[in-house]
Amino acid sequence: MTEQSNILTTRQGHPVRDNQSTRTVGERGPATLENYQFIEKITHFDRERIPERVVHARGAGAHGYFEAYGKIGDEPASKYTRAKVLTQTGVKTPTFVRFSTVAGAKESPETERDPRGFAIKFKTVDGNWDLVGNNLKVFFIRDAIKFPDMIHAFKPDPITNRQEAWRFFDFVGMHPESLHMVTHLKSPWGIPATFREMEGSGVNTYKLVNEAGEAVLCKFHFEPKQGVRNLTSAQASAIQAKDVGHCTRDLYDNIAAGNFPEWEFCVQIMPDGPNEHLSFDPLDDTKLWPVDQFPLLPCGRLVLDRVPSNFFAEVEQSAFGTGVLVDGIDFSDDKMLQGRTLSYSDTQRYRVGANYLQLPINAPAPGVVARTNQRDGQMTYTVDGGPNPNVNYEPSVLGQSLKEAAKPAREYHQQVEGKLGRYQTSRTTDDYTQAGERYRTFEAWERDDLIDNLVNDMKACPEPIQLRMVWHFWHCDEDYGRRVAEGAGIDLEKAKALPPLPGRAAPHKALTAETYTD
Ligand code: HEM
Repeated sequence: MTEQSNILTTRQGHPVRDNQSTRTVGERGPATLENYQFIEKITHFDRERIPERVVHARGAGAHGYFEAYGKIGDEPASKYTRAKVLTQTGVKTPTFVRFSTVAGAKESPETERDPRGFAIKFKTVDGNWDLVGNNLKVFFIRDAIKFPDMIHAFKPDPITNRQEAWRFFDFVGMHPESLHMVTHLKSPWGIPATFREMEGSGVNTYKLVNEAGEAVLCKFHFEPKQGVRNLTSAQASAIQAKDVGHCTRDLYDNIAAGNFPEWEFCVQIMPDGPNEHLSFDPLDDTKLWPVDQFPLLPCGRLVLDRVPSNFFAEVEQSAFGTGVLVDGIDFSDDKMLQGRTLSYSDTQRYRVGANYLQLPINAPAPGVVARTNQRDGQMTYTVDGGPNPNVNYEPSVLGQSLKEAAKPAREYHQQVEGKLGRYQTSRTTDDYTQAGERYRTFEAWERDDLIDNLVNDMKACPEPIQLRMVWHFWHCDEDYGRRVAEGAGIDLEKAKALPPLPGRAAPHKALTAETYTD
């Protein structure tokens, strides 16, 4: 068929003359096996789905741009980083953002109490930079090896296929580092009203590296110009009764109306090093960097102005990963960040396929050409490479291969020294103080909703979990523990009498690192 024609064809380009009837022997059949048109149509349909994401399966995306202010707070951005995406002004870096929930399946309600994913792909002049974050600024755990257990506990029960409060709190009760996140999650902050009205945060600690090869530790955050708005459980239930995709609808409607959502991009910065004077470990993603000590320094703005033209091609097949950094932005020793970096590209090679980076949504911006010696594999779509297609290797004495780029004048070299081992604890681990502070700084209605939600959850838990959770809440803040106990009819004195968790420090005590080496 010619390009202009609107005639239906098979994938081979054959015109389809009847799309309503299977070819059969006589009016009542049987059907025949050589019916290519039918076989192509049905067998392609049979393969329409790819595996949903193992977490963050429900999501919505939008395109937009990022504009750097060229400054980080009042200082030139170049003081801290040589990443052009943050130093160059007057450039609109194309971006794609995918918002998501975590534990629900691909078509689950967007009213669920869950962290929200906030993953952004910056298609910069230096290649892609992915920042795979959440709306909440902290996380449940600080060691990646625990992630599969955590997700198993949060996802549906393997027998009933229902999410069960007792499974969630059984895991949480054994991990006091999750109390800070749980205090956020069970409050209205666990149900953002819309994607537009929530914050975004990289959560993990990164480094910025400047031209001189000097590094600082940093955290990245997005602050919504629309403000933050959260829902109580009752408000969310009322929405869910009518609409399970209200956040996606809100995003698409606002962009269609020209009401483009916008976030200020901010960094928090601290010197690299042991930072022993701090009461928390800056590499522990269950802890906030207090903003009075480490202010949010504005450095750019993110605007979303276009919805995808196809959900599957752009949202379902999009692939973000914490390993996708540009020169001038680097990894810190945050153990979670390092564990995550393996997981993302690994799952995407399985979920989307070995050549997932050739797809337009994942490829670098037009003008930034990927030239590799990677070849072939399932669904190869492009063959990139150098001046001579015979030379798909490097180096070559003939000078016809791709060449390595020049090294930066000053590379950043981290000095690392330590005893190889499995370290159960981090240096300054007090898992209760920040959770208690969060409880006390909530507004009264947020605290009431938090207590209501926890009371309902506790009623669905067996006594050993109830007692341990009340023990934890009481150590965060006595009022917090007392209210949960009273509401759920749990014996507070019995809970307070529990011994500390085995292998964990007493509440509010800094830990001395306990380790064993392999
Ligand atoms: C998605 C692993 C922690 C944010 C995913 C996916 C995996 C994963 C396998 C599915 C990716 C895909 O199929 O494309 C892990 C592991 C973690 C971890 C092993 C801990 C060690 C976190 C944390 C955050 C986070 C701390 C927040 C800062 C996200 C987001 C997505 C995601 C936003 C969805 C990305 C998208 O929209 O495609 N994670 N994750 N994850 N994760 Fe994590």
